[in-house]
Amino acid sequence: MKLKLLPVIVCTLCLCAFSSGSFAQVDFKPQKELLSAIKKNFKDADAQYQFLAKQIGPEEFPKTYHPNTNNQENSASDWWCSGFYPGTLLYLYEQDHNKPLLAEANRILGVLAKEQFNTHTHDLGFMMYCSFGNANRIEPKPEYKEILINSAKSLSTRFNPTVGCIKSWDSKNPSDYLVIIDNMMNLELLFWATHETGDSSYYKIAVTHANTTMKNHFRPDYSSYHVINYDAQTGAVKEKKTAQGFANESAWARGQAWGLYGYTVMYRETKDKKYLDQAQHIAQFILTNPNLPADKIPYWDYNANNIPNAPKDASAAAVAASALLELCRYADNGKGQEYFDAAQTMLKSLSSPTYKAAAGTNGGFILKHSVGHLPAGTEIDVPLTYADYYFVEAMKRYKEFGVTK
Ligand code: GLY
Repeated sequence: MKLKLLPVIVCTLCLCAFSSGSFAQVDFKPQKELLSAIKKNFKDADAQYQFLAKQIGPEEFPKTYHPNTNNQENSASDWWCSGFYPGTLLYLYEQDHNKPLLAEANRILGVLAKEQFNTHTHDLGFMMYCSFGNANRIEPKPEYKEILINSAKSLSTRFNPTVGCIKSWDSKNPSDYLVIIDNMMNLELLFWATHETGDSSYYKIAVTHANTTMKNHFRPDYSSYHVINYDAQTGAVKEKKTAQGFANESAWARGQAWGLYGYTVMYRETKDKKYLDQAQHIAQFILTNPNLPADKIPYWDYNANNIPNAPKDASAAAVAASALLELCRYADNGKGQEYFDAAQTMLKSLSSPTYKAAAGTNGGFILKHSVGHLPAGTEIDVPLTYADYYFVEAMKRYKEFGVTK
């Protein structure tokens, strides 16, 4: 009798595991050498970020560094990247418990806090969730929660139900409604707000935004446009174009990585299979792209006209590596190992001296060779705070595969 029941029990357990959506279907094995390199990377990054902390004024946030002119560039708290510096400090503190990193994180969070009321940007997810979200995850505090809820409220003011999206960029033309693929990254804050408050309106905004973006931002090959311009009154699509990519019809590398990460989060938060499919399609586009180099660090645009002489974008690789290290846990069709292996190659490449800066160089940033906005002629082949943030996050995720359960 017991033996007859065994297949039923096994099948039931398998079904539960698959439908849970958060079950590691394959036991991915991290490589010992890469785990050792990551351990060293964290130590080196601790020292780099203590050096970086000395390059900013009391109200400033690091932005980039220009190696040719030895020029440090910093920003105010309203720059879209202001959350990455405290977020990286907190991730690093979590690893090695280096007290000066925590002290600097707490100091800069105090400068950033006022952005909770900023309704002029769609980037509040990046700014407040990468920073206060991590602070609250590590040590939950009522004041962090209040800041995060206010940030979610501010972000929600940019949602237009007729368009079905959160507005990314304001425009002088009142009938324009500009939405960029990057905006998928701001939705995690809204899911957190619904979990925390029980108010489902944040969740509904996130899901509606993701559905509208899935409908209009993607081409048949699952590459994405950078910018969709909707009619603010009717919600009709007026234009599909780029701002930071090579051409309107090209695949800007970081945009593809934002989409991959964004739909992976959508699946984590909703368990709706259509988001898992979308993330897997995007992964397929990236990983089978004939212009993806062997080191899996993409050129700044998959269709740049001067490949192989185009600048690489380490930030796009860091974002993609972190996303793949989550997606591999959910993936179906036996794709998980492929995603894990691709992320591993990306992490190995980023850990090499080609991309990882030597101690005391690179203005204190961890990674070299990212591209911010090539068409504008800014931040080309430089370090960027978000390359560092997602690299550190990806290393943390990789390391967690090596923890015995
Ligand atoms: N607009 C955000 C980015 O450069 O990825």
